[in-house]
Amino acid sequence: MSVRSVFITGASSGLGRGLALHYANAGATVFAAARRVAELESLAQEVSAGAGRIVAVALDVGDLEALSSSIARAESESGGALDLVIANAGIGIPTDARNLDWRAVERVFHVNTSAACTTVSAALPAMVAKNTGTVVAVASLAGFRGMAGHAAYCASKAALRTFMESLRVDLRGTGVRALTIYPGFVRTEMTAKNRFPMPFILDADEAVRVMVRGIARGKRSIAYPLPLVLATRWMATLPDFLYEFIASKLAPQRLAKKRKSN
Ligand SMILES: NC(=O)c1ccc[n+]([C@@H]2O[C@H](COP(=O)([O-])OP(=O)(O)OC[C@H]3O[C@@H](n4cnc5c(N)ncnc54)[C@H](OP(=O)(O)O)[C@@H]3O)[C@@H](O)[C@H]2O)c1
Repeated sequence: MSVRSVFITGASSGLGRGLALHYANAGATVFAAARRVAELESLAQEVSAGAGRIVAVALDVGDLEALSSSIARAESESGGALDLVIANAGIGIPTDARNLDWRAVERVFHVNTSAACTTVSAALPAMVAKNTGTVVAVASLAGFRGMAGHAAYCASKAALRTFMESLRVDLRGTGVRALTIYPGFVRTEMTAKNRFPMPFILDADEAVRVMVRGIARGKRSIAYPLPLVLATRWMATLPDFLYEFIASKLAPQRLAKKRKSN
């Protein structure tokens, strides 16, 4: 797949930043969107001379009208359709049932689900018209079962997972691909604040390599790292009562307390 034009949300840090730099260095024009424009501008300076370029797009993805207009502008600057669109922007706010704030729940759903689905939906019509292109959504292994303290995050990623699965069914037999990515733990700003153990955590560079390889191979989904993928698949087969028992033992607050007392 030749990638000449890319639109990535959440490109100011972590996985989005790594993906933007990769595609720009590989020769593409990358429309890199986020709220922190200074980060995007400094990222643009890191692109190797003679390679592609990064166009900084100042955007709060929570503004869905602005999000779809930004994609439309990027399309018209790219000959009508983008080759690759990655809905990567995401947030993780703890939402413990014993201390729940509906505003936090709404915020997580708005960014992780509404904005991600809008990113994909705004890009698809032009791709369908040209019968080519790839839309990617960054979900999470956390979207396969509900985890303690993170009801909104897990559910927001589960919704994204099912949304993308339906699109794949609809797009079967066309030249347009819809791909879902399920990362485990990756060292980024999002996980830097976590005070609980994060098994099999990867560096962002390594995670970006896995994602780029999977996108180039035309996979329908990319899940990593393998040990956590296997554990997640196993958890998904457990009956609810057993899953709830195990998940409560692995609750981040519980593990953090245990760590402190050791
Ligand atoms: N790190 C992990 O362990 C992990 C695991 C599973 C899934 N994921 C998923 O991977 C994706 C990337 O996360 P990351 O780990 O790279 O986190 P990160 O370093 O915190 O990056 C998040 C990105 O999202 C952007 N963003 C957040 N809210 C936004 C908004 N309202 N408008 C525009 N951009 C917004 C941020 O940019 P600004 O703040 O500049 O706007 C930032 O560029 C997320 O969808 C996350 O859920 C991460």
